[in-house]
Amino acid sequence: MMDELFEAARAAMAHAHAPYSRFPVGAAIRDETGRVHTGANIEVVSFPEGWCAETTAIGHMVMGGGRRIAEIAVIAEKMALCTPCGGCRQRIAEFAKADTKIHLCDETGVKLTMTMAELLPRAFEAEGFD
Ligand code: THU
Repeated sequence: MMDELFEAARAAMAHAHAPYSRFPVGAAIRDETGRVHTGANIEVVSFPEGWCAETTAIGHMVMGGGRRIAEIAVIAEKMALCTPCGGCRQRIAEFAKADTKIHLCDETGVKLTMTMAELLPRAFEAEGFD
């Protein structure tokens, strides 16, 4: 299962549009029904307008009808154990639980598995909203 998610993230990375950073990233999410949704980073010449692989994958999950992230794998061609950026941690948390697994990969497979709570402790949550 974890290997399948790694392979999906690695395959997604090949779709990166990263001509400015030359730092391709891939992500793969398994949703609550077991389906896999993938994404790569997509950059824009006006640099702040680009977005991360995890964000693409979340968009695919939501539009595919998935509502929860059961687990997610992330891989970067040029960095082992590339962790999601701060913004993506919050976006992942939107669809995850404290114990949701986040798999950090190198080019050979999953090398470190962390939980959502470890990556985003004391996350800002919707509790308390009316
Ligand atoms: N990036 C991701 O796609 N995910 C991460 O977890 C870290 C950073 C992208 C954003 C940008 O396109 C490139 O990597 C360099 O920062």
